[in-house]
Formats: sequence, structure tokens, C-alpha cells
Amino acid sequence: MAAAAKGRGVGVRVFLVVFVFISCQSLIDGRNTYKRKLTVQLIHNPTSPPFGSDLLHVRAEGVNDTLHYLFYNQGAPTLLLVHTDSSSSTVKVNWTQFLDRNTSGGLTVEPQSSILYSSAVVFSRLWEYDDVNDTAEASDDFFPPYELQDFSWANVSLSGLTALVCGTAPNTMNGSLCLKLSAFDSEGRDESWPRLLHSANSSQLEVWLNGLLPRGNHSRFMLELQAVSGAYPLSRVDVRQSIDDEYTPSIFKIFQWVSSMNGSSDVLGFVQWKPVAYRKSHPVLEDATPCRHSDPRPQRGEETAASSVLIRAFYSDPEIMGLNVSFGLAGEPFYNSTMFLSWTMLVGVGSPPVDSFSPLVLTIMVVCLGTPLILLLLGGVFVFLYKKRKASTLGYEPVN
Ligand SMILES: *[C@@H]1O[C@H](CO)[C@@H](O)[C@H](O)[C@H]1NC(C)=O
Ligand SMILES: *[C@@H]1O[C@H](CO)[C@@H](O)[C@H](O)[C@H]1NC(C)=O
Ligand SMILES: *[C@@H]1O[C@H](CO)[C@@H](O)[C@H](O)[C@H]1NC(C)=O
Ligand SMILES: *[C@@H]1O[C@H](CO)[C@@H](O)[C@H](O)[C@H]1NC(C)=O
Ligand SMILES: *[C@@H]1O[C@H](CO)[C@@H](O)[C@H](O)[C@H]1NC(C)=O
Ligand SMILES: *[C@@H]1O[C@H](CO)[C@@H](O)[C@H](O)[C@H]1NC(C)=O
Ligand SMILES: *[C@@H]1O[C@H](CO)[C@@H](O)[C@H](O)[C@H]1NC(C)=O
Ligand SMILES: *[C@@H]1O[C@H](CO)[C@@H](O)[C@H](O)[C@H]1NC(C)=O
Ligand SMILES: *[C@@H]1O[C@H](CO)[C@@H](O)[C@H](O)[C@H]1NC(C)=O
Ligand SMILES: *[C@@H]1O[C@H](CO)[C@@H](O)[C@H](O)[C@H]1NC(C)=O
Ligand SMILES: *[C@@H]1O[C@H](CO)[C@@H](O)[C@H](O)[C@H]1NC(C)=O
Repeated sequence: MAAAAKGRGVGVRVFLVVFVFISCQSLIDGRNTYKRKLTVQLIHNPTSPPFGSDLLHVRAEGVNDTLHYLFYNQGAPTLLLVHTDSSSSTVKVNWTQFLDRNTSGGLTVEPQSSILYSSAVVFSRLWEYDDVNDTAEASDDFFPPYELQDFSWANVSLSGLTALVCGTAPNTMNGSLCLKLSAFDSEGRDESWPRLLHSANSSQLEVWLNGLLPRGNHSRFMLELQAVSGAYPLSRVDVRQSIDDEYTPSIFKIFQWVSSMNGSSDVLGFVQWKPVAYRKSHPVLEDATPCRHSDPRPQRGEETAASSVLIRAFYSDPEIMGLNVSFGLAGEPFYNSTMFLSWTMLVGVGSPPVDSFSPLVLTIMVVCLGTPLILLLLGGVFVFLYKKRKASTLGYEPVN
């Protein structure tokens, strides 16, 4: 009996040691090493006008699969992501159909049977409201929204694995809205805040508003996003908490808008962001401003398809969910303080990347948890030695 209990005790201790070892190991060098081969191309529009309406195609080839990222700069800016189970799938564009914008089929990924999953994010509108009472609760004081499909978008400019496109609102001289797409061949982190962790299965979109003249004296902005998914809509926003803010100071949450099969926990695709925007292009901590989002709501597919060329061309009967991301809370400076706002998100397939603890926090944890452990151990050793000595002195006593 006693021996069995002792055996169990040792078993538990061995298990604990192994468990701690494995978790530390995975925390420290558990970096994912999955790599993809990336090629970036602009598919030229042979029929002009519209001028400069090239379709950006990033092909991310894995061992047995390919991710196709497509980004088009006319109409509402849209990023389309198609995952295929073949490393030789291709993108075909029928420009006549594509530009007619009245039927689907202008853009196809072939072979069609290789498509595992697809999703798209449309930047549909920019809302502005006059927050007179500084509550950041927009009631009905909205200015007419900027329809991003009506912006005049410049040519896509490419630089390595990033593409940049800027647009200006109709009838405004100053100010622009820009989108920067970064594709990645492996896991890593951007240099600039919010330093989201990305993998080879995701790409990052940064969107910023620069110099657009506010229409109110206390203007705040909201960005409306629409998400389309081939099989299962992006129906819910999950939140993940972390005690670690080393990469994004003062932010302890990460949101992920996910598509899952019948509400199961297996995620097919996602849009992920941290609830923070920045009021300067090279921000310091004071330039961070919190953001909030509304619950995803079903949208009218026809309306989105009419505004986004890519959605129209690729999806025949899109099921669409939309939400608003609003920038700034009550008491935060208004947009006019810097006339700049930037926000970043990640779009990808499969499970969203999970931040493990940063080296700094790990060190702190090791020191904080390790020191008492060492003290306890040392204490144990001293008690043991003391007892042993006492026992041995006691052992001599009867002789005396
Ligand atoms: C965009 O590209 C087209 C040709 O591809 C060129 O004619 C046009 O001038 C460019 N526009 C800008 C603003 O650079
Ligand atoms: C790729 O596919 C082949 C055949 O379908 C399979 O044997 C192999 O394990 C797959 N490799 C990976 C990395 O999935
Ligand atoms: C492109 O679409 C048009 C209109 O549907 C069709 O007439 C034409 O044959 C197609 N072109 C190709 C190369 O498939
Ligand atoms: C789509 O538009 C083109 C030209 O704008 C027109 O010729 C064609 O008939 C339209 N097709 C459909 C199905 O409405
Ligand atoms: C702002 O506050 C005033 C006074 O409390 C109120 O009358 C007004 O309706 C508020 N305005 C908005 C937009 O909430
Ligand atoms: C637009 O910008 C130019 C130069 O940056 C400036 O001179 C002009 O006053 C601005 N226009 C408005 C309406 O603020
Ligand atoms: C990326 O996708 C590939 C293929 O689906 C998978 O094997 C790999 O584990 C994924 N990597 C990450 C970091 O999710
Ligand atoms: C903004 O403030 C100026 C001066 O304080 C005022 O003349 C103007 O009417 C205000 N505009 C709005 C939209 O409230
Ligand atoms: C999901 O639900 C639909 C209908 O509710 C059902 O037809 C389908 O088999 C379900 N899929 C899975 C993977 O459970
Ligand atoms: C975003 O907010 C505006 C203004 O409240 C509202 O009209 C619109 O329906 C919202 N969009 C979504 C997708 O919730
Ligand atoms: C922004 O607008 C508010 C309210 O009108 C005003 O008090 C503040 O001085 C403005 N800030 C800047 C930098 O113009």
C-alpha cells in the first residue's frame, strides 16, 4: 500500500517535471517553422480604361497547398483569399466579364475542385460623427458616410512582399485613405506597432487615414468591414486575453472574427486585430487610442457585390457579415488632434496565430516563480540537514 502510494507520488513528480520542461520548451522555441514560397505579380488589365486597374496576385505555395491573395484597387478595396489543396492551382481572369461587373465568373481559381476555403474582406464605408458631448457613443449624428467604392484609387505600388494603394474621397482635395498589404512566407512580427504575430498562412492589412479634413469640430471615425466566406460565414468575434503586452504596450486583448463549421471550435478562416489604433504614423505610447467593434450582422449580399469588383467576380451568391470598428473612447483626443489614424489586422486561413509569452515575461515568471521554489528547496535541504544532525546528536545521547 505505502509502496504503491510512494510510487504514485514519484510518478506525479516525474510527470510534473516533464510537463514543466515540455511547456517551457514549447514556450521558448515553439516557433512555427512552416514556410511558403511567395510570388507577387500584377495581373495587367489589357483593356483600358480604367487606367491602373491592375489586379494584385500573391501566390503562397506550400508543400501540398496554395494560398492565393487577390487585391483589387477599383471599387471598394477588397482582399480575397483562396486556399487550394494543390500546389499548382492558378488564377484566371476574364477581363471582359470582370470589368462588366454584372455576373460572377470573371475571376476563377482552377481547378475549381481544389478549393478548400475562401474568404474576403471588403472595406465598405468610412463613417464620421460629431462627438459633441465627448461620449464616443455615436447616436444619430452621423455625417453621410464615405463610400469607399467612390474613392479614386491610385495605382498599386509594389515593394517586395508589400503592396500599397491610396485613395482620395470625391470632391476633397486633401487627405487620403491608404491600405498596405504585407504577405509573409513564414512566421514573424512586424517592426511597427501593434506588432501582430503572423504566420505563413496569413497576411496583414494596415489601413490609415491621413489628412482628411474633418466635417465636425469633434469628429471621430468608424470603419465598416464586410466579410464574405465561401462555405461558412465569419459569424462570431472571439476574444483572447493575455497578461503580456510587451509587443503592443497597454493592450491585453486580441479579437478574432472567425468562420467555423456549425459553430464548432475548429476555425476555418479569420480576421484578427488588437483593439488599438494609432494617431501618428510613428507613434509613441500616448498616440495609441482604443477601438471597439460592433457585433457581426448579416448584410445584403447584393449591395456588397455591387460595390466590390472582386466579390462580384468570384462569388455567385455571397453570404456576408459586417461589423463596424470605431476608433477612440470618451475623453480621448478627437481626430483633429493629429488628423491621422492607423489600424492593422491580419487575414488568414486555419487557426489564428497565438501569442506565447514574450522572452521578457518568461524571464520575469521564471524569476518570480523560480525564486520561491529555490528558497523552498533550500529550506527543505536545511531542515533535512538540521533534522539529520539532530538525529545523529540524539543518537549519541544514550551513550552519554
Ligand atoms: C497608373 O498606371 C497607368 C498604366 O499602368 C498609367 O497610365 C498611369 O499614369 C498611372 N497612374 C498614376 C497615378 O501613376
Ligand atoms: C502531401 O501529399 C502527399 C500525397 O497526397 C502526402 O503523402 C504527403 O504526406 C503530403 N505532405 C504534407 C506535408 O502534407
Ligand atoms: C470572357 O467572357 C466573355 C463574356 O462572358 C466571353 O464572351 C468570352 O469568351 C470569355 N473569354 C474567355 C477567354 O473565356
Ligand atoms: C453585363 O454588362 C454588359 C455591358 O455592360 C452587357 O453587355 C451584358 O449584357 C450584361 N450581362 C448581363 C448578364 O446583364
Ligand atoms: C449633448 O448633451 C446635451 C446636454 O446634456 C444634450 O441636450 C444633447 O442632446 C447631447 N447631444 C448628443 C449628440 O448626445
Ligand atoms: C490642402 O492642403 C494644402 C497643402 O497641403 C493647403 O495649402 C490647403 O489649405 C489645404 N486645403 C484645405 C481645404 O485645408
Ligand atoms: C499553415 O498551413 C499548413 C497547410 O494547411 C499547415 O500544415 C501549417 O501547420 C499551417 N501553419 C500554421 C502556423 O498554422
Ligand atoms: C466649429 O467651431 C467653429 C468655431 O468654434 C464654429 O464657427 C462652427 O460653427 C463649428 N462647426 C460645427 C459643425 O459645429
Ligand atoms: C452543419 O450543419 C448543416 C445543416 O445544419 C449540416 O448539413 C452539416 O452536415 C453540418 N456539418 C457538420 C460538419 O457538422
Ligand atoms: C455601422 O454603423 C452605421 C451607423 O451606425 C450603421 O448604419 C451600419 O449599419 C453599421 N454597419 C454594420 C455592418 O453594423
Ligand atoms: C480639435 O477640436 C476641438 C473642439 O473643437 C478643439 O477644442 C481643439 O483645439 C482642436 N484641436 C486641434 C489640434 O485643432
